[in-house]
Amino acid sequence: MTNTRKTNTFRWNGKILSILEQRDLPHKIHSIACRNHQQAADCIRQMSVRGAPAIGCVAAYGLALAAREKKYKSVQHMISALDQAYDTLAGTRPTAVNLFWALEKMKAVWQNGHANDPAGLAKQLVQKAMSLHEEDLQSCHRIGEFGAALLSPKSIVLTHCNAGALATAGHGTALGVIRTAHQKKKIKKVFVDETRPYLQGARLTAWELHQGGIPYEVITDNMAGHMMKTEKISAVIVGADRIAANGDTANKIGTYSLAILAKHHHIPFYIAAPFSTIDLNIPDGSHIPIEERSEKEVAFVGKTHITPKGAKIRHPAFDVTPAALITAIMTERGVIEKSKFKTLNSKS
Ligand code: MRU
Repeated sequence: MTNTRKTNTFRWNGKILSILEQRDLPHKIHSIACRNHQQAADCIRQMSVRGAPAIGCVAAYGLALAAREKKYKSVQHMISALDQAYDTLAGTRPTAVNLFWALEKMKAVWQNGHANDPAGLAKQLVQKAMSLHEEDLQSCHRIGEFGAALLSPKSIVLTHCNAGALATAGHGTALGVIRTAHQKKKIKKVFVDETRPYLQGARLTAWELHQGGIPYEVITDNMAGHMMKTEKISAVIVGADRIAANGDTANKIGTYSLAILAKHHHIPFYIAAPFSTIDLNIPDGSHIPIEERSEKEVAFVGKTHITPKGAKIRHPAFDVTPAALITAIMTERGVIEKSKFKTLNSKS
């Protein structure tokens, strides 16, 4: 399946992983060339690439790079370097489970022990990373089809953060649903939460919708309730970083408040995510590690310092929406209604 966007979130050319520098979007479009796993890890940590499925794919390529970045004397020598690279990549961001899911898929390649020489193992790892990349792109298109089928013509959708092509291998999850629904002429308008403090909505989602010719309006996060009350919003659709076995869902900070607002206004609240985002090892959302990021990201808007010097600041980057507030989860295997969340275990 091909990614129809002109600007790829990341691209593997057989030797180098190019990562679109999302910190400079939408005003500057340029990429970072990663030649080793440390550079891939830095891109994830500093959020040059972000979004749960995208960081999973980049971590997978990071291990493929680790397999090629030195001359290894033996498969065993390569495996000890891969184990270290695994730890480096796993230590970048804690919340999105797709990162660990992808690393585990890659680790299975060197643990199955089928390669006789370092070059053979490196080749297998590159192939595995490419297949995870392709799998994510296909999943997004399927999520788009299943999700769009739930929307009526002239839908007004509200979304949060960026769960678009920039957050995945292409097309997007929540934005994939919106994109597919727009192709089917079902979208009247999208309200885009700016998503303080990192502004993924205002910078990235608005950019993607603009490129796709999809009608949208950016709102500040605190306008969502007013818009739900006055603008006939048909659905809220967001992505996810980790879904616990009971359906509790971690996503960008502010998602939980939106789910409460949606319930009050009787607006369906959908999560769009691939199965790689579901963590069956944890029974509920209280076990999801929540990343705390730098206070600078709250204290500054761009280069402007907005708080008093020395102000105490908190910056949890994610929150957990209880399953009870979620109408359904749109996945690549179909839509799972709230009443079926207990079957998440049997579906994987
Ligand atoms: O901190 P970010 O930008 O990586 O957070 C991203 C989100 O919260 C997305 O909604 C989520 O990863 C889903 S992306 C398809």
